Amino acid sequence: MMVLLQQKELNLKPMGLGDLFEVVAIERQSYIKPWSFFLFLNELKDNEYADYLVLKNENKVLGYGGMWNFYQYCHITNLAVAPVFRQKGYGCMLLGALLNRAGVRGARRVSLEVRATNGSALRLYEKMGFREAGIKKGYYGDEDAVFMNIALEDK
Ligand SMILES: CC(C)(COP(=O)(O)OP(=O)(O)OC[C@H]1O[C@@H](n2cnc3c(N)ncnc32)[C@H](O)[C@@H]1OP(=O)(O)O)[C@@H](O)C(=O)NCCC(=O)NCCS
Repeated sequence: MMVLLQQKELNLKPMGLGDLFEVVAIERQSYIKPWSFFLFLNELKDNEYADYLVLKNENKVLGYGGMWNFYQYCHITNLAVAPVFRQKGYGCMLLGALLNRAGVRGARRVSLEVRATNGSALRLYEKMGFREAGIKKGYYGDEDAVFMNIALEDK
């Protein structure tokens, strides 16, 4: 999938092994408890339910997102944009692409967890149509998670 935004050519592609060093660098800048290189490697190589995308400008990874597909149900596992490229619409673009892929695969519902204090992510998910479905107490050990989901037929 290729899109034009602000005169730049952006590419949304399935994440490949060659993207992993950049993805892990962004992951470390984005999460309190980042996934390791080997966890991403395992997702790409061995998890048949995993679906990960990278957003690239030429060869540079700007952001990425992923989910697990369980047929009628998908769960977003992570979504991050490199700090210098945030608030330019790339998070929405990645999440929109994941939702489209989930829909094409026949998913009816997509869910995720987000830290209760992560205001920017909560706003992004609400803007994209996710709604709070509950609180998972102590989910992150140090913090609660807001459990959110979206019914794709409502989009
Ligand atoms: C959450 C994240 C992916 C958003 O990416 P982004 O590219 O900056 O998001 P967008 O530019 O597409 O913004 C989309 C919407 O998100 C919300 N948003 C994004 N950044 C925000 C901020 N700093 N403050 C308030 N709202 C914000 C806004 O509603 C925005 O829509 P608007 O521009 O119309 O107001 C990014 O901040 C990030 O990588 N954070 C660290 C990792 C993370 O927390 N991931 C989510 C884990 S569940």
